[in-house]
Amino acid sequence: MEKVNLDNKTILVTGGAGFIGSNLIKRLIADTKGTTIVNIDNMNSYYDVSLKEYRLKELERVVPAGIKYFFVKGDIADKALIDKLFAEYQFDVVVNLAAQAGVRYSIENPDAYIMSNMMGFYNILEACRRSLDYARDDKGDSVISTNVEKSQPYRGVQHLVYASSSSVYGGNKKVPFSTDDRVDNPVSLYAATKKSNELFAHCYSKLYDIPTTGLRFFTVYGPAGRPDMAYFGFTNKLLKGETIKIFNYGNCRRDFTYVDDIVEGIVRVMQGAPERKKGEDGLPIPPYAIYNIGGGQPENLLDFVNILQEELVRAGVLPSDFDFEAHKELVPMQPGDVPTTYADATALERDFGFTPKITLREGLRKFAEWYKEYNNSLG
Ligand SMILES: NC(=O)c1ccc[n+]([C@@H]2O[C@H](COP(=O)([O-])OP(=O)(O)OC[C@H]3O[C@@H](n4cnc5c(N)ncnc54)[C@H](O)[C@@H]3O)[C@@H](O)[C@H]2O)c1
Repeated sequence: MEKVNLDNKTILVTGGAGFIGSNLIKRLIADTKGTTIVNIDNMNSYYDVSLKEYRLKELERVVPAGIKYFFVKGDIADKALIDKLFAEYQFDVVVNLAAQAGVRYSIENPDAYIMSNMMGFYNILEACRRSLDYARDDKGDSVISTNVEKSQPYRGVQHLVYASSSSVYGGNKKVPFSTDDRVDNPVSLYAATKKSNELFAHCYSKLYDIPTTGLRFFTVYGPAGRPDMAYFGFTNKLLKGETIKIFNYGNCRRDFTYVDDIVEGIVRVMQGAPERKKGEDGLPIPPYAIYNIGGGQPENLLDFVNILQEELVRAGVLPSDFDFEAHKELVPMQPGDVPTTYADATALERDFGFTPKITLREGLRKFAEWYKEYNNSLG
């Protein structure tokens, strides 16, 4: 593994107004020195844009002196914009989190997945490839380095880290899910785009010797999370007195991962790029890796709902006499859904000394407390 020190580096985070991206940037702002961070997000309205704006405001509040932080409202599917940003900033590390997320929405709006997840990711890969040309261009003719001063000669992108998903495991029966398992039976277009990202990354690692690491996240949750996900959507509905639908009659198991654990995993992985080596044929052995980041402790959906209920009452989001039973409906499985997700995260522990730690109760408590405050602030 090649160590990548994040201090004094220029880092691109895509999707940084999103749930995971904004938490990652907050952490990078707190823990790095002399860093330049660029956040690109198209602020799409897949879910309430005011939540994305809230996350951006929270970020701007915490930028100290010594960190340069730039937000660019733009689309990663816009090739000219991505090329311009890469030329202008000369990124050392790139974390691609921008994507059209969600399994069910890929049935209604497949175009969004092809544009963001396929075209967008391809643009990022191509720009990483060209960054190696800038690094080789010792005259610097093609480089407009207006925003960053490099203390050392530019070496191109040293590590591309990108979000994949547990959904690539589809309906695999063998648990826990290991990165050694075959994952060529996606059950949603979303999963197919994420698996394709892994294939594209492998190809760019092999052809151009670009170190890439794909991270398969397992159901990430926490404060200021995604309203389209069950814990947040259920809370919104219960508060309005509506009924929540529990799919597959509650016979689903999910490996939930609290957002701080995901961020810890990403930051550790960013600092350890797969090593660049040549094979016997003189060509690169692809500096390519894939890890699961998940707690490895799947919870039954009904247990999850019970804990959520208790924490919503504890935080004062719902009254203690709320009749939960009257607001629950057990319904069949939805197309695209999978019955179980269960991470084998031993490779992350082996290579980066980290396994997610935060329990579902602790995490849902933090979510419920945040929700109470956020909801009050909306008046
Ligand atoms: N949250 C989870 O449970 C989970 C699980 C597995 C994988 N992931 C992956 O992790 C990444 C981050 O997920 P999240 O939960 O923070 O989602 P999110 O929707 O909150 O964040 C994604 C952000 O990307 C932006 N975006 C989307 N398409 C874009 C485009 N074409 N150009 C620029 N910006 C664009 C969105 O506006 C959004 O702010 C995604 O790639 C997602 O697929 C998330």
